[in-house]
Amino acid sequence: MTLTLTLARPDDWHLHLRDGAMLAAVLPETTRHFARAIVMPNLVPPVITSADAAAYRSRILAALPEGAEFTPLMTLYLTEETDPDDLAAAHAAGLITAVKLYPAGATTNSASGVQNFDKVRPVLERMAEIGCPLCVHGEVTDRAIDIFDREAVFIDRILDPIRRQVPELKVIMEHITTRDGVEYVKANPARLAATITVQHLMLERNDMLVGGMRPHYYCLPILKRREHRDALRAAATSGDARFFLGTDSAPHPTHAKEAECCAAGCFTAPIALSCLAHVFEEENALNKLEGFTSLHGPAFYGLPVNSETLTLTKGAALSYPKSLAAGAHSVTLFDPGTPLHWHVS
Ligand code: NCD
Ligand code: ZN
Ligand code: ZN
Repeated sequence: MTLTLTLARPDDWHLHLRDGAMLAAVLPETTRHFARAIVMPNLVPPVITSADAAAYRSRILAALPEGAEFTPLMTLYLTEETDPDDLAAAHAAGLITAVKLYPAGATTNSASGVQNFDKVRPVLERMAEIGCPLCVHGEVTDRAIDIFDREAVFIDRILDPIRRQVPELKVIMEHITTRDGVEYVKANPARLAATITVQHLMLERNDMLVGGMRPHYYCLPILKRREHRDALRAAATSGDARFFLGTDSAPHPTHAKEAECCAAGCFTAPIALSCLAHVFEEENALNKLEGFTSLHGPAFYGLPVNSETLTLTKGAALSYPKSLAAGAHSVTLFDPGTPLHWHVS
């Protein structure tokens, strides 16, 4: 018996497309399966102004493969100097869908992020007024805080105070990695949602560290212990509309991953849907997959569900390349270390 699953076409609510040769290489891997994606602004230099976002959007559209139907949903990178009028104009014009908060130094290309959260309060208040959501990389950067605790401490020290000060602000906790993240979302139903990545549903920290260090599993927030992975799996497969897919597919050249100081990020876009079907099947929750990939995200962002569909078929073990050429470099694909049987047809 052939097992097939037809879903409304998925969207990716957290994606890194980069620029130049890397953009050209990775964009088709997303447009093949996804109709829209929230595009992260952490370029070097970052996408800070509406003019930056317009220019980046044009470069993405110019790089689209022939015939691709794909809408990049642009974001601005919040800094302590962000001009609220420029932001509001970009939002009113439909140029941007959200604004991204990186605590300074928390992750890849976040040096221009926010150090003093009080300084951005007026911008956050303006965003609440105009209904522009805030996407958050939720980790503290305090050296004294253990890397495995940085998400939980961020919730207490930064996120919860912000949400109390600006209660009308819509917030997306991106790539949550802990039970604490899941529980915070569940306990705070108003204007709060979370995205979950492929790698955090499939892996725990043992997969990255036991028997040798696997740089292609190193991403931020870092993989946590198994009980956290299981809490994420339970949230993603529960049907709760506050949890939805943000792959956080984050390509880096292979030489930057396989390095003395390895770059953070997993390039999951090419096999993201095969991985998710695998996880949802393991959890006996294939009937909840469409909500996670295609329905909950649009509902939270107030956008229509895609009218096209995508079909997954279960068959022989999926074969996929180890890497992809990107200009003079290559990018290594995420390999979950287990055979995948779901094919996008
Ligand atoms: C992302 C990147 O490479 O831009 N890396 C990652 O490990 N997730 C940045 C981010 O999303 O934090
Ligand atoms: Zn991040
Ligand atoms: Zn990311």
